[in-house]
Amino acid sequence: MDKKPIAESYRRNAAILEIQDLSVTFRQRKGLFQSEDLPVISRLNVTVNQGEIVAVVGASGSGKSLLAHGIMGILPVNARISGEMNFLGEPLTTERICKLRGKEIALVPQGVTYLDPLMKVGAQVREQQPGKEGKRRQKELFSAYGLPEKTEERYPFECSGGMNRRILLSTALMERPKLIVADEPTPGMDLGQAKRAMADFRAFASQGNGVFLITHDLPLAISAADRIAVFYAGTTVEEAPSSDFASEALLRHPYTRALWRAMPQNGFQAIPGTQPYVKDMPKGCVFGPRCPKFTKECLGDIPMRAVRQGTVRCILQHDEHKIREARESKDAQKAQEEREVQKYAGGR
Ligand SMILES: Nc1ncnc2c1ncn2[C@@H]1O[C@H](COP(=O)(O)OP(=O)(O)OP(=O)(O)O)[C@@H](O)[C@H]1O
Ligand code: SF4
Ligand SMILES: [Mg+2]
Repeated sequence: MDKKPIAESYRRNAAILEIQDLSVTFRQRKGLFQSEDLPVISRLNVTVNQGEIVAVVGASGSGKSLLAHGIMGILPVNARISGEMNFLGEPLTTERICKLRGKEIALVPQGVTYLDPLMKVGAQVREQQPGKEGKRRQKELFSAYGLPEKTEERYPFECSGGMNRRILLSTALMERPKLIVADEPTPGMDLGQAKRAMADFRAFASQGNGVFLITHDLPLAISAADRIAVFYAGTTVEEAPSSDFASEALLRHPYTRALWRAMPQNGFQAIPGTQPYVKDMPKGCVFGPRCPKFTKECLGDIPMRAVRQGTVRCILQHDEHKIREARESKDAQKAQEEREVQKYAGGR
């Protein structure tokens, strides 16, 4: 896929965050005097435009949290990062991310250890907005996420894990950032609270901001996001509009299709095999050992390429006939639903 200069693409698409060819390796000791580099993220591409919720979906260990930490500039000291990351059209350098962190870019971390154990949670949430308006907003958020009023006087160790996750989410929503990076924000929430969180993200995005939603929950991503980037073994294998998940035929990568078939409403079919560990990466396509469509061409370099309104890292050519049929049946289903809504509205 042709690379476009990021600044130019920002002007055209109003991209908030653009990541191109991001790689992260960990330097680890090997024996007494040697060390080795473990590649945990390779050539990863993803973009969040103004007004969008972009979900990153992938199995445990695929590199989702490392990506979030790479954006926030909080990777461990033994990590090396390469590639291009731009925020509002300008490079996201180490110095810049230090200034933007917690202000223009807010993280909802996966681990509750990010809370200060020695500070009451109400004061932590209001740290950047200590005035009257801050207090009002904090109370509103605590009430929305089912946190009793007296929670604000507690320390993190006095709250349950689920409560602490809701406190972290409230902290991110208190700020007026341009981008929220939310790493698995919903575990510990009931369905109503999770829906409220997604509605808050949608309202936040519609004000011209962006949300980067990291989750292993594909149905949640489909219902909440505009676009979905599918991660596998430290790289993006597909990026697609959420609407393409209405039908398997509209999806581009065999792994995305397997994830689709594993959803309860599509038959709960498990994917045979396991994701490779960083030390045992296969040659060529990372999904090769599990792919039913594997051929010897898959052992070469597999670049990301554009297919319809998305991208894919796979050599397979798509059956346009089946895609057309899937689109037509989706349109027919939508038209039928609209007719039923009109019939219902007319009969009232
Ligand atoms: N400090 C580290 N040193 C070496 N490897 C690491 C380190 N931190 C993470 N990894 C490895 O990087 C890979 C990706 O980890 P990451 O935490 O980003 O996964 P994840 O997709 O967020 O998983 P989960 O869904 O369970 O949160 C894993 O294989 C993990 O073992
Ligand atoms: S490149 Fe080959 S192995 Fe990889 S997903 Fe496509 S068909 Fe399967
Ligand atoms: Mg994680």
